[in-house]
Amino acid sequence: MSSRHGSRQKGIIVRSFFLDLRDRTGIIQCVGGAELKDVPTEGVLKVKALIKERPERMINPHVTTGSIELEILAHEILSRSETIPFPIDTDGYEIDEELRLRHRYIDLRRTRMTHNMLMRSKVLLWLRNYLSALQFVEIETPILTKSTPEGARDFVVPSRLQQGKWYALPQSPQQYKQMLMVAGFERYFQVARCFRDEDPRADRAYGEFTQLDIEMSFVSQEDLLRLTEDMFTSLVRELFPEKTISASPWPRLSHALAQEKYQTDKPDLRKDPKNPDELAFCWVIDYPLFTTQSKEDYFHGSGSANLAPSHHMFTAPHPDDVTLLDTAPAKVRGLQHDLVLNGFEVGGGSIRIHDPVIQQKVFDIIGFSKEDSAQFGYLMQAFSYGVPPHGGIAPGIDRFLMALLGEPSVREVIAFPMTSGGTTAVMDAPSMISLQQSEELGLLHNGKKTEKIEQKGNS
Ligand code: AMO
Repeated sequence: MSSRHGSRQKGIIVRSFFLDLRDRTGIIQCVGGAELKDVPTEGVLKVKALIKERPERMINPHVTTGSIELEILAHEILSRSETIPFPIDTDGYEIDEELRLRHRYIDLRRTRMTHNMLMRSKVLLWLRNYLSALQFVEIETPILTKSTPEGARDFVVPSRLQQGKWYALPQSPQQYKQMLMVAGFERYFQVARCFRDEDPRADRAYGEFTQLDIEMSFVSQEDLLRLTEDMFTSLVRELFPEKTISASPWPRLSHALAQEKYQTDKPDLRKDPKNPDELAFCWVIDYPLFTTQSKEDYFHGSGSANLAPSHHMFTAPHPDDVTLLDTAPAKVRGLQHDLVLNGFEVGGGSIRIHDPVIQQKVFDIIGFSKEDSAQFGYLMQAFSYGVPPHGGIAPGIDRFLMALLGEPSVREVIAFPMTSGGTTAVMDAPSMISLQQSEELGLLHNGKKTEKIEQKGNS
């Protein structure tokens, strides 16, 4: 990609023309004769050139390639560009976000966004290598699946073969990863796409986001905290050496203490929040197993109860509090752990219940009817065939990168995020489907069954 930036009188008769040539690693200045005058801005260019040191007075110390330039011997214009809809030589925060998202493929050309995408790729590769070296197995789990109770609304997909029935996109691979422990894999991870229909915020992507989903057998909560702490500490050290971690080992706060001292369960423990290179990780543990939220709010289901799971219904009670399940469930602590970075909850997990009797007790406490509990019958059945004690964690990749890179929103670290109105970047989804598609799926079309529309010749 190219942009012209002036010309220079060289000697008396020779005029040099300059342009910046950009690839994904950055820009380099090109110098040539009058033939460069017509090279289009933002077009795609093929060049044959000599790499040359710049004359002393032309060195630009502010650019990585500032001491060299390309002397163009020949060039070919591979494609031209219309005038781009917004500038890309700024950081872009000042531009309307909807406009940036509509032309995201242009927005991603700006240095900041290209850098964010390259860092995201590096971070994911690093995490995969780290976990693989520790004998974790990466296993993909289904996207077309059944509703999972993570507390948000589901996205659903109609079934053509089982008309009238719907798949749900996973809010997380929670139950599949637990079944993989029953299957004997012991150490699982997945860079997992999760789908949740909840109102967007700066730190919450609408629709879909990515977790580094982890599950392990025969572990204590201590093992999980240590694995996560070691992993992110090494990652920061190797990939972001300019960043400093404020405290090591990371502080661990009980939920009660965090609330009392900071009035939040995600405290920002940076010594100087204005310092962009400070990373303050901490753990929040000893959450109450239940909150007083109603089950309708939590599960969007039927029935009622005063208590709902603080995290999700598979989190194990603290071993010291198990007897309180019968007498004072609101006082039971859960083996939940939340990872907090600079005031953002960047990960959550727990030790799981593997005893069906305790799981049933939890279902009873949150007011699940027999039918509600039956929705998890397959997990309970899996547990009846020998289940190792297990637990896990799922750091949110988008939110972690947002906090790490000091970005104001998760959308700045996602290539094609949705708009706040729930439409996709660039591609115009959600959109209407054709009459034929709705017919095949047995759906209503504009509120009417499709056969009826056809009978009236109204299709
Ligand atoms: P939880 O629901 O706490 O746990 O999610 C884990 C982490 O995922 C990230 N996250 C999000 N990031 C961006 N946009 C969103 N809408 C969004 N929602 C969640 C957060 C959060 O900490 N199955 C459990 C994990 C487990 O128990 O192992 C789960 O999904 O960083």
